Amino acid sequence: QVMLERVHPARPGWYEKLYATAMDKGMQSYEAEIAQYKSNLFSQLSVAGKNILELGVGTGPNLKYYASADGVNVIGVDPNIYMEEYSRAAATSAGLPSSNFTFRRGVGEALPAEDGSMDAVIGTLVLCSVKDTDMALREIKRVLKPGGLYLFIEHVAAADGSFLLLVQGALDPLQQFVADGCHLTRKTAENIKEAGFSSLSLNAVRLSSAYIVSPHVYGVAYK
Ligand SMILES: C[S@@+](CC[C@H](N)C(=O)[O-])C[C@H]1O[C@@H](n2cnc3c(N)ncnc32)[C@H](O)[C@@H]1O
Repeated sequence: QVMLERVHPARPGWYEKLYATAMDKGMQSYEAEIAQYKSNLFSQLSVAGKNILELGVGTGPNLKYYASADGVNVIGVDPNIYMEEYSRAAATSAGLPSSNFTFRRGVGEALPAEDGSMDAVIGTLVLCSVKDTDMALREIKRVLKPGGLYLFIEHVAAADGSFLLLVQGALDPLQQFVADGCHLTRKTAENIKEAGFSSLSLNAVRLSSAYIVSPHVYGVAYK
């Protein structure tokens, strides 16, 4: 709770609600384009009977890729309370019994889980929004079991010297305002590489539907 207030002080309710609705309604073409990458990525996860934590679960667009396996337990963490009903609905339509889905209001910088308790941690488009990327990565490692997987998809800064990076830099303050603290120019791949996972498979792709957030990295890290 203390960390939640420190890294994600309460926004006005209307703002959080608007952002949740925008994420729910505005991501269709993005989700359509990213679908093939998500299918590949989540196929690396055998989740039956496993404990999974998703940070920044948002409206729950990833649940359909992994939550239908037998006996999977999912904790969805997000500071925005309006994400609860969307992610709950996404869990239900993915076939996850409601007793196996827990929404926890919280932040990546202080994950609500015991050390070494999770088989997998999932995060998509969230390290752009946390206040402290390295702290969130330390938390991801802390809650993973040895050998546990961290699956990620993140939008990142465009290449050094590119025109897009200039545009991202110019729009960054506005983006933080309209997209609840999302940063456009983070070099998140570097943070993940330096986080001390025992192995890492990291890929880069540019998505055409995503305009200023088109450069993405995705992959799997093992604790
Ligand atoms: C761009 S949305 C992505 C949501 C979802 N993961 C997806 O792929 O659609 C960013 C999410 O991160 C959440 N968020 C913001 N700050 C956070 C923090 N410090 N820790 C965890 N989640 C955070 C937001 O509330 C929002 O749901």
